[in-house]
Formats: sequence, structure tokens, C-alpha cells
Amino acid sequence: MISTPCLLFVLTSTVSGFLKELPAEFAEGPATWAWVSYDSPSVAVLPGSFNRSVFDAPHESNVSDPVIASVNAYLNSTNFIAYDSRFLEILGPNATVTHIQHLAYQSHEAPCYNPKAGELFFVEWGPPGGENGTHNWQYLLHTRNNTLKKIVTKPPTSNVHGCVVYRDTMYVVTDGSHKETGALVTIDPKTFKRTVMLNNYYQQPFMGFNDLDIDPDGNIWLTDSKSAYGRDLTAFTNPTNPTVYMVNGTTMRPKVVHTTTGNANGITVSRDSSGNHILFLPDTGRRCFNNARLLNNPISYFYDGIRASRNGYLFAGAGDGVDVIDSRDGMTLGTIRVGGGENLAVSVAFGVHELWIVGRGGVWHVDGVKERLDREW
Ligand SMILES: *[C@@H]1O[C@H](CO)[C@@H](O)[C@H](O)[C@H]1NC(C)=O
Ligand SMILES: *[C@@H]1O[C@H](CO)[C@@H](O)[C@H](O)[C@H]1NC(C)=O
Ligand SMILES: *[C@@H]1O[C@H](CO)[C@@H](O)[C@H](O)[C@H]1NC(C)=O
Ligand SMILES: *[C@@H]1O[C@H](CO)[C@@H](O)[C@H](O)[C@H]1NC(C)=O
Ligand SMILES: *[C@@H]1O[C@H](CO)[C@@H](O)[C@H](O)[C@H]1NC(C)=O
Ligand SMILES: *[C@@H]1O[C@H](CO)[C@@H](O)[C@H](O)[C@H]1NC(C)=O
Ligand SMILES: *[C@@H]1O[C@H](CO)[C@@H](O)[C@H](O)[C@H]1NC(C)=O
Repeated sequence: MISTPCLLFVLTSTVSGFLKELPAEFAEGPATWAWVSYDSPSVAVLPGSFNRSVFDAPHESNVSDPVIASVNAYLNSTNFIAYDSRFLEILGPNATVTHIQHLAYQSHEAPCYNPKAGELFFVEWGPPGGENGTHNWQYLLHTRNNTLKKIVTKPPTSNVHGCVVYRDTMYVVTDGSHKETGALVTIDPKTFKRTVMLNNYYQQPFMGFNDLDIDPDGNIWLTDSKSAYGRDLTAFTNPTNPTVYMVNGTTMRPKVVHTTTGNANGITVSRDSSGNHILFLPDTGRRCFNNARLLNNPISYFYDGIRASRNGYLFAGAGDGVDVIDSRDGMTLGTIRVGGGENLAVSVAFGVHELWIVGRGGVWHVDGVKERLDREW
């Protein structure tokens, strides 16, 4: 932590130079904010030398200028970094970020929120946790009293990697394990009864599902990735390249809609103002499913879990925090930070004016968000 006198120095010396002045209700609100705007000449043109890898957050750049170094120390103490005034409008001045569950520095994944019960489901993913990295249990957080417990479905579900709540049912995808293939399953949130819905593509095993989303018509979009085999969670050698499937929600018939020689990761579906469904993969926006275009590339790290909010803002786990992206123009509007250091944001789940972030280091609750986040379906 930087001491208070130093912090005051940073604020006075940089507000006029590097950081853009915040509206009073943000500067005086409950959270710590910074606004980094390219309309400031000192943001567009940095003095001295600077360098960072794509995996480092902007504030982790190795800079020679002492003022930029103190700006970076300040940025690392913030809860929210805005790159655009739209970020201030979306989060609003009352937003807060609280680290509500301190868990291992281990990937936490697959959050989904059941609003009726106020329960957040998520998992610890992969090695070194579990038994040889295999987890046959999941976490359930009672958000109203912040009580965490482990649950086991009936029968147990191994290596859950993605979850969405749709019509009061949890739809979950798994990597599979050394004993079973990756599968799409449903889980009853009251009884934890598990039902396998899909476990093969015309008798070919899936590689290991990473995530899913469900569109307003009930069709299910799945990413099948090479992460499970790569982390020795499954014994099935990758039979295909990483693939996105669309599964007809009525017939369960799977169809390949996209393949990549990279990897498949998060996925989310949104609806534009004309009612068209838009599928977002971490680095690709696909409109009407046949017109792919590059929407955005992360400012740092890579996008992991990604969710579209009610009004089409994308929230993507991106290492140092959750990036908020406008799906219309692809601009990164700002970052919701999870404390720096070893903490890492992986994925999110929406409530109405709140969201939860899971990742390395546990669970964070973002409350008091001005924008309505939960979707209409
Ligand atoms: C910049 O940093 C990367 C690693 O973060 C390093 O590999 C590279 O050599 C550095 N470049 C310069 C010019 O210092
Ligand atoms: C930071 O930059 C300085 C000056 O270019 C260089 O000497 C130093 O090795 C760099 N350190 C790291 C960790 O990249
Ligand atoms: C923020 O909270 C204050 C105090 O509760 C309230 O008066 C104000 O309307 C809130 N602002 C927004 C944008 O929700
Ligand atoms: C974990 O590894 C040990 C040693 O290889 C093996 O005996 C055990 O069966 C493994 N457990 C699981 C769940 O794969
Ligand atoms: C927390 O809330 C849940 C559900 O509302 C309840 O079942 C549980 O007993 C509560 N736990 C504690 C410690 O109060
Ligand atoms: C799903 O299958 C049903 C029954 O065959 C069909 O009526 C519907 O159009 C299909 N949906 C999509 C999105 O293909
Ligand atoms: C950022 O802050 C965290 C928490 O205080 C600290 O662990 C980490 O080392 C800091 N990062 C940098 C680059 O100074």
C-alpha cells in the first residue's frame, strides 16, 4: 500500500497531467476510481521508456518516468479504471467491489446466479486442486448471508467448466474426466439432480467444454476447447480443432458453427436493437452468425469468461480485472479491478444491479451498479 501523503502527492501531481478529473460524486464516492483518457496529451505521449508484455496490466508497465511510476502505483490501488465516460455511466458513483470470499490462488470458474434463491454456483477448476485436478464437487454461495458450501450433484458431476441459469434450471458444461467425455448437463438447483443432455457429436467425444450460453429461443451455444486435454483432465486426445457448436434446444441436435486453430474459450449471446442474435467469442463478434468481424482485442491478458448484459455491454474476465466493452463499437470502456497482485478475474455472473466475479483468489461482489445487468431471458 502507498502511504497517504504519497497518495495525495500522486493525486495533485497527476490530475492536471495524466489522470482525467473525475466528476465529484465519483471522486467522493465509496470506491477508488481513476480515469485514463487518450484525450489527455500525457496519456497519448508517454515520457521516457516504457514496456510491458501483453499479459501485464497497463499499470505493470516498466516505466522510467517517476511520475508515470507513481500514476501506476495509484492505478494499482483502484477499484475501477475508466477509459471512457460510458464506464462512469454504466457503473455509477455508488458502485463498490468487495472481495467476499478469499479462496486459493487457483482458477475459479463457471459462475451462474440463481436469482430466486440468491445463490451463486461456481467451481474450482483444474490442477493443482481436486484429486489430480479432477473436481467432483462444486461451490454454492448463499449471497444473502455470504455462506459458502461445497455441493455434490446426484450423481456427481466432474470438472464443470461453464454454467448459465435459464428458466430456473442450471445448464452446465463439463470437461469430462479420465472416465467420461465432456457433456452438457442440467442440474436442478433445489435437488441437485443431474441430467445428461448431450455427450457426443455423432459418436465422437467432445474435447472438453469450456463454456456455454443460451439464446432467447432456447438454443445452446457451446465452446469445445483443448484446455482439458492440455491440463490432463481427460485422456481423449483432441479429435478436432477447438469448435463452437450450436445445439438446438428442442432436439439437442448439435451443429458446428465455427472452428479455430487457436483455442475456444468464453461465449455469450446478445440481441441487438433489431432483434438479431449476436454471438460473441472472446476475440470475434459474429453478427447473424455468418458475418464475423474483429470486435475488440484485450488491452492486456486475454478474455476468459464473457457475458453480455441486458443492454449489450460485454463483461469479460481479463486478468487484472473485468473489462467492460461496448458491443456496438468494440471500445473497452473500463476495468473493474480485483486488487492486483496474485488476484485474477476469470468470469462473471449478473444479478440485477450487481455482479459477481470469480477467479484466482476467490469471489468479488460488485454492488450498487447503476445499469441493469440481468438479461430479459
Ligand atoms: C519488453 O518486455 C518483454 C517482456 O515483458 C521483453 O521480452 C522485451 O525484451 C522488452 N523489450 C524491451 C525493448 O525492453
Ligand atoms: C525496465 O527498463 C529498464 C530500462 O529500459 C531496463 O534496464 C530493465 O531491465 C527493465 N526491467 C524489466 C523487469 O523489464
Ligand atoms: C447513490 O447513492 C445516493 C445515496 O444513497 C443516492 O442519493 C443517489 O441517488 C445514488 N446515485 C445513483 C446514481 O444511484
Ligand atoms: C490420482 O493419481 C493417483 C496416482 O497416479 C492415482 O492412484 C489415483 O487414482 C488418481 N485419482 C484420480 C481421481 O484420478
Ligand atoms: C444462509 O442462507 C441460506 C439460504 O437462505 C440458509 O439455508 C443457510 O442456513 C444460511 N446460513 C447461515 C450460516 O445463516
Ligand atoms: C430446432 O428444431 C426444431 C424441430 O426440428 C425446429 O423447428 C427449429 O427450427 C430448430 N431451431 C433452429 C434454431 O434451428
Ligand atoms: C499491486 O498491488 C497488489 C496488492 O497490494 C500487490 O500485491 C502488487 O505487487 C502490486 N503490483 C505492482 C505491479 O506493484
